[in-house]
Amino acid sequence: MISSQIELHKLYGGVVPEIASRKHIEKINQVIEQALADAGVTLEDLDAVGVTYGPGLVGALLVGVAEAKAISYAKKLPLVGVHHIEGHVSANYIEHPDLEPPFLCLIVSGGHTHLVIVKDYGEFEILGRTRDDAAGEAFDKVARAIGLGYPGGPKIDKLSDEGNPEAIEFPKGKIEGAPYDFSFSGVKSAVLNYLNQAKMRGQEVNAADLAASFQKAVIEVLVEHTMQAAKDYQMEKVAVAGGVASNRHLRQAMKDACERNGCLFYHPSPIFCTDNAAMIGVAAYYEYQKGTRHGWDLNAIPNLKL
Ligand code: KG4
Ligand code: ZN
Repeated sequence: MISSQIELHKLYGGVVPEIASRKHIEKINQVIEQALADAGVTLEDLDAVGVTYGPGLVGALLVGVAEAKAISYAKKLPLVGVHHIEGHVSANYIEHPDLEPPFLCLIVSGGHTHLVIVKDYGEFEILGRTRDDAAGEAFDKVARAIGLGYPGGPKIDKLSDEGNPEAIEFPKGKIEGAPYDFSFSGVKSAVLNYLNQAKMRGQEVNAADLAASFQKAVIEVLVEHTMQAAKDYQMEKVAVAGGVASNRHLRQAMKDACERNGCLFYHPSPIFCTDNAAMIGVAAYYEYQKGTRHGWDLNAIPNLKL
């Protein structure tokens, strides 16, 4: 059960924080009611209440935390706070019961780009991260510049099918001495410069070629850094997570690279890549098993660290 606000935020070209919180408070009880009904259970059947408490927009997080506390208080259930990114990683467990830590995971969302070793459930060693824009953020900004609208990732994914990824050479954003870190502001700026120069010269831009070439530059660096880490840390299992992990070209490139290097490749279905409550439920399940419990002082933490 997903209640989406995307149509509303599209009007503004991105998420408007106050609108997001207001929609959360308006919808949260209906969504919970429907999800319980779909699962054929009631609140009486639950063992614990899991909730995301960060990172993210504080207004939206507070709605969830307050709701979770209310249910937990009323039904005398343990409260388990979850990190949003732990949720994304845990989306992989939903359809792959054989997947157990340790494994390498590339997390690519609208707000994060992290390369981590999942050492145990909820236990991460961060190998690399973006120095500037997140991968999804770069997709969204480039999509806006081409005039594709919000959210841009899926639109670039689709438009790229019709384009030539070799048409334009964009920089790959490597960082000297940091083989697992990422930088996407360079490729984003290169796309914007390309568009500006074409406009000044009065040249037509082939949007599909541009989208495919940009996407290739981003995907190549994501795959190269991930496979380098897999080799260096002798990881046999490689997973992807986060909204950008639903990108078909990234999944194919990652699958091919894993096959070449003798690694097993895992990815959630697209519906579990982009933000969803199922992944938070799974993360909360493992935290609950480990004994994690939060008190009534649980708060929303917008910049919660992994
Ligand atoms: O994980 P997510 O749903 O939310 C965050 O936690 O940020 O990720 C959203 C991001 C957006 O930037 C969106 O453009 C991107 O994921 N995205 C994609 C695709 N689907 C969603 N990027 C590339 N290709 C896609 N198919
Ligand atoms: Zn997310």
